[in-house]
Amino acid sequence: MTLPDRNDLSHSPSIQFRPARPGDGAALWRLVQATGTLELNSAYFYLLWATEFGETCLVAEEGSRAVGLVIGFHPPRHPDAAFVWQVGVLPSHRGQGLGLRMLRAWKNLPANAGRQWVTATVAEDNTASLALFHSLARASGTRCESQPHFTADQFPVDHPAEPLLRVGPFPRAKAEPT
Ligand SMILES: CC(C)(COP(=O)(O)OP(=O)(O)OC[C@H]1O[C@@H](n2cnc3c(N)ncnc32)[C@H](O)[C@@H]1OP(=O)(O)O)[C@@H](O)C(=O)NCCC(=O)NCCS
Repeated sequence: MTLPDRNDLSHSPSIQFRPARPGDGAALWRLVQATGTLELNSAYFYLLWATEFGETCLVAEEGSRAVGLVIGFHPPRHPDAAFVWQVGVLPSHRGQGLGLRMLRAWKNLPANAGRQWVTATVAEDNTASLALFHSLARASGTRCESQPHFTADQFPVDHPAEPLLRVGPFPRAKAEPT
């Protein structure tokens, strides 16, 4: 697959990052919808998440326009991990280094900086997402490993298996440059 010119957005000051705020729910819902491929949860879900878990989520903005997001949380039984539930970039902004930059900025958020592992489940046919997490491991000088997690038969609908990706270990509380 041919990607657009790379690296245009890997350092561009026109993109700013911040944790999600309680009022971001509708914008998160719209952005997930605009990615075209992410599974869209209910609007209520995004309102609830931005209000209660905004500090483990990241919004990437170009001016006042949201162009990317990471929706994450801290798995209660894995206190060393920060979990990525959804990560998405607008189609117009993909393949230019923004996804990697965003994920590193998300890992560097105050809420996530002390976590040693970044985890996520990714279907094996999602090549862009797999490449993104391997890229995060490489850029951070660490590893990305996969293990069985949600199997296809656990889903109540037709859905591919979602193995667990584990990126790390990251040094505790060390904020990396984004
Ligand atoms: C996954 C996604 C966030 C990546 O964002 P992005 O800004 O395009 O990613 P980057 O430009 O930073 O690229 C990161 C790495 O992924 C690779 N990559 C990006 N898009 C790719 C594609 N379509 N196919 C294969 N590799 C791809 C890049 O080459 C790069 O790898 P490298 O460092 O080895 O060169 C974006 O494609 C997206 O929003 N997809 C739809 C939503 C989705 O599937 N999210 C993941 C499931 S939650």
